[in-house]
Amino acid sequence: MSAAIPDIHDLFATLAEHEGKFNRSFSLVPSENLISPLTRAAFLSDSFSRYFFDEHEVFGRWNFQGGSIVGRIQKEIVTPLLRDLGRAAHVNLHAISGLSGMTLALAAYGGDPGNRVVTVAVANGGHPDTSYVAQKLGYVPLDLPFGDYDEIDLDALAELVRTRRPSLVYIDHATALRPLPLHDLVTTVREAQTEPVHVHIDSSHVNGLVWGGQLTNPLAAGADTYGGSTHKTFPGPHKAVLFTDSEDTALRLTLTGVNMISHHHPASVVALGISLLEFAHRGGREYAARTIANARAFAAALAARGLAVQGRPDEGYTRTHQVWVKAPPEVNPYEVCERLFAAGLIVNPYNLLPSLGGPGIRMGVNEATKLGLVEDDMERLAETFAAVVLRGEPPEALAGEVAEFRAGFTPSFCYRDDEMRVAWKRFADTLSDDRSQYVGGSVHDARS
Ligand SMILES: Cc1ncc(COP(=O)(O)O)c(C=O)c1O
Repeated sequence: MSAAIPDIHDLFATLAEHEGKFNRSFSLVPSENLISPLTRAAFLSDSFSRYFFDEHEVFGRWNFQGGSIVGRIQKEIVTPLLRDLGRAAHVNLHAISGLSGMTLALAAYGGDPGNRVVTVAVANGGHPDTSYVAQKLGYVPLDLPFGDYDEIDLDALAELVRTRRPSLVYIDHATALRPLPLHDLVTTVREAQTEPVHVHIDSSHVNGLVWGGQLTNPLAAGADTYGGSTHKTFPGPHKAVLFTDSEDTALRLTLTGVNMISHHHPASVVALGISLLEFAHRGGREYAARTIANARAFAAALAARGLAVQGRPDEGYTRTHQVWVKAPPEVNPYEVCERLFAAGLIVNPYNLLPSLGGPGIRMGVNEATKLGLVEDDMERLAETFAAVVLRGEPPEALAGEVAEFRAGFTPSFCYRDDEMRVAWKRFADTLSDDRSQYVGGSVHDARS
């Protein structure tokens, strides 16, 4: 029996429902962020349908001419901006997300199958997929040794490097309230290594904080390479970027990238360019500083209301964008996150939170900060959170107030409409041109 073919109107009705829900809610999922209204323009452009091969990367094997104009945005705007913000001589744009960047970096830097690769265990905040990908590439994953849940045991790391001789130390610290001491980590590896060990820092969660000057740049700490997602603390499109200062290392990654990713999503590169320009010219450093200040204010406001906020109170609970809460014993963390969703706070039930060794609620204030919320606003979010989680108030009764509060905010740290009239109009005119392959017919009909 074949299923009925769904109706296109149903699809758009669901899309509209999604959009409406997000217009009335705050997303506190630490892995997500908003792209600015202008950045969305990239996904309306024809670049969405093209491939762009940098001729140096395909080495005379082929080229598709279609990307040659839009590719200039990558070469002349995105790459130089990333080199500058990421403080690196070379940047690679092949990866389409953090996990695809992880796969490339493991493949490029791990060496031969059978080699040992050190990664962060999930119990210490490592990404749940790293050891899976490492094993599929034929490596033997080893856990980075920790003393406490978030303190590396540097002596044990030195011993591990000396005795197990890994080819790669891949630091995939994802679920984290405090940055790892990168300089000490790299120095320990260097002093213990008997042959070269590649150190890569996967900064997927914290790129916006690194590029905004709030966290240490991994290359400055001595790492060989770093990089990751462009859509978590960095408010950009789904993609990832990888950096190095070494030409040889950059070439190794290029060779891996061209053979493992055929298509690196040119519209996302354009979107990344817009997001990077906004970050550079519209307060990226202030956004990064405010994200951390907001996280600390949110943690304190939750703790003041009696919630079991994780982290060290004397350090302000968090030094990143993340805030973690243990659900009260009588409350199922998954079920309460559904009620928070209904109230308009979109959060991330996560198993396992390193401080708990089990499930808890993982949040981030990166998107709220991008929406323009400041420290005082964290009280309002904490109050709604406490009403649902501690007092069991019905979410439907709170959703209206949250929606009203949400209506006071629009994406910040980005170009204003009035600044963009000329640039936007030039592009928009091409979309509504009668010959446009996208909206020509329907727009034409609507106009006539
Ligand atoms: C360290 C690390 N690597 C990779 C990823 C995967 O990134 P993406 O979701 O962009 O594929 C994440 C996501 O949280 C991460 O934190």
